[in-house]
Amino acid sequence: MKKLSLVAVIAIAIFCISAVCTAEEKKDNGFLYVKSGDKPPMHVIFDENLKCVECHPLKTKDIDGYTSATMTLKKSSLGVLPREEIEKRVVEVLQGKHGREIFVLSTSYNNKPLATIIEFTIDPKTLTLYSMSERQGEKLFHMHENDQVSLAYVRPAENYFRETLGVQIVGKAQLLTGEDPEFMEGLDIYLPSLFHMIPNPPTDPAALDAFKQKISKTKIMTKVTPERIVLRDIFLKAKGFRNFQIWERETP
Ligand code: HEC
Repeated sequence: MKKLSLVAVIAIAIFCISAVCTAEEKKDNGFLYVKSGDKPPMHVIFDENLKCVECHPLKTKDIDGYTSATMTLKKSSLGVLPREEIEKRVVEVLQGKHGREIFVLSTSYNNKPLATIIEFTIDPKTLTLYSMSERQGEKLFHMHENDQVSLAYVRPAENYFRETLGVQIVGKAQLLTGEDPEFMEGLDIYLPSLFHMIPNPPTDPAALDAFKQKISKTKIMTKVTPERIVLRDIFLKAKGFRNFQIWERETP
């Protein structure tokens, strides 16, 4: 009996020591990317004085566990476009050929996300985005309950490695009906792009007015005010700029 408990004690001791050792090992090896040799050739450009761990500060389960990888780029200024240039490029990309582009809109309700395909028209002056919907729809319900949204746009390409062009937006959504004064403001931005899509758009002022009235009575407008925009644009690289550009709304 004594012998047995001695074996048990030794076994427990060995287990504990090895657990401590592995914990120690894990601690020593707590970062994913430390050596400059670990850097892939396609890596985004950054200021020389920055260490790898400043942007890759955490490892969990072998993934780069920093929740906001893109935002680490704010630590580096190499190749950053001036703010107005980011705005210009974002508008150019999101206006597409006819003033509107198709996005994936992410909403969530009760901690369950929902991704919906939806078109938006961007206001080039404010970067506000407008879309029009029927009155029903799961996404509308989500946004009514929770105004935090995210939008993603990608320019389709044959080779996404060579022609990467996309925009990610985080912002707040408002649902507007014809009774909100902002509805008509948004409609003036939205309508010209709609007229490229429909047969026989109204031409004379009276028909245009009747058209607007009808829309304002039957549709819901979603207005998204961006808080952060991340432009991923490989075409900037050739010009010596960073392929990631970050724009954030300035709080007055
Ligand atoms: C200024 C911030 C910054 C610094 C400094 C930085 N990185 Fe990165 N790194 C990033 C970002 C952002 C990404 C993700 C880019 C993307 O999604 O294409 C990334 C991606 C990577 C990846 C690819 C990860 C993957 O999942 O494919 C590796 C590997 C990497 N970095 C290694 C390094 C090493 C090694 C260093 C130091 C020599 C370093 N990084 C320094 C910001 C940084």
